[in-house]
Amino acid sequence: MPAFHTLRWTDNSLELLDQRWLPDRCEYLRCDSAVTAAQAIRDLVVRGAPAIGCAAAYGIALEARKLRGTARDQFDREMEAAFELLAGSRPTAVNLVWALKQLRRTLEGCSGKSSADCAAQLLAAAHQITADDLQINRALGTHGATLLPSSACVMTHCNAGALATAGHGTALGVIRSAIEHGKHIEVIANETRPFLQGARLTAWELQQDGIPVTLIADSAAGHLMNTRQIDAVIVGADRVAANGDVANKIGTYMMAVLAKRHDIPFYVACPLSTIDLGTPNGGLIPIEERTVDEVAGYRDRRWAPQNIHMANPVFDVTPADLVSALITEKGIVRSPDRTKLQALLAG
Ligand code: MRU
Repeated sequence: MPAFHTLRWTDNSLELLDQRWLPDRCEYLRCDSAVTAAQAIRDLVVRGAPAIGCAAAYGIALEARKLRGTARDQFDREMEAAFELLAGSRPTAVNLVWALKQLRRTLEGCSGKSSADCAAQLLAAAHQITADDLQINRALGTHGATLLPSSACVMTHCNAGALATAGHGTALGVIRSAIEHGKHIEVIANETRPFLQGARLTAWELQQDGIPVTLIADSAAGHLMNTRQIDAVIVGADRVAANGDVANKIGTYMMAVLAKRHDIPFYVACPLSTIDLGTPNGGLIPIEERTVDEVAGYRDRRWAPQNIHMANPVFDVTPADLVSALITEKGIVRSPDRTKLQALLAG
């Protein structure tokens, strides 16, 4: 297990490893309400689709705890506002909506109970979602590991590791599981402009575990695929549409096109909660736009000229036909499409 906690419940509050400062500082930020949890999600203190889902679930539990002494009608009214606030904190990762749906179901099952009882059950549900996420990542890691040769060089984009989940990771979970199964895996981590999740988070996380990693600029990916043996590209996902199109960190689509050109398998590792049958295709997935300050520079250093037009879409959509396989806790789905995804979720 890594020596950090992406999120942890301590002293009746949520502590989040503040990923804005990694790898320079390893600091935890304490959240005590839905408002502070939603702000932390919005500000990327916690990021990565499954981790966002867990943090949102705890945001609900925190609000319920705050309101546990109130009458049920006031409790319900204020909880409704908390659900709405958290649902709007980030638009692309469907795990956020999925986790809130689980918590809403728990709350609906609490009719006739006191506010304090509801609060206790909502906290138990948040703990469960977080514990399940770790198990799910271990299961998908075991499935995904079978796709890799005994000695492999794997490229990844963004951070789909322990830092993006309750632990183990999805894309990095496959790599960790392969290593646990005795395989020799070397990782190429794309830096992932503009927020540098690859350079700051993936490189740091793998280094903590002693997993060999080479950090590259995103623009070096094609050259490496062309000039050296890359056995697979593995990424995570923020949302998989019903037809198998995949929304993930900006730049993923570029990697998938390059992988196809070089005949390298392109794998997407994600829990079933990332598959959204309610969104028919990738064109309908909401793509988050963040402040252009992220493009203009980094932290307090600006390199772009003043008064320049900029854009910062932070996710893109990889069409299903570029995805060699989806790796889930229920197994591997090769060449995912609508029929296969419906069967996967129905089974
Ligand atoms: O903006 P971020 O850092 O939340 O984006 C994260 C990603 O795109 C991850 O690849 C995705 O959420 C999968 S995490 C297991």
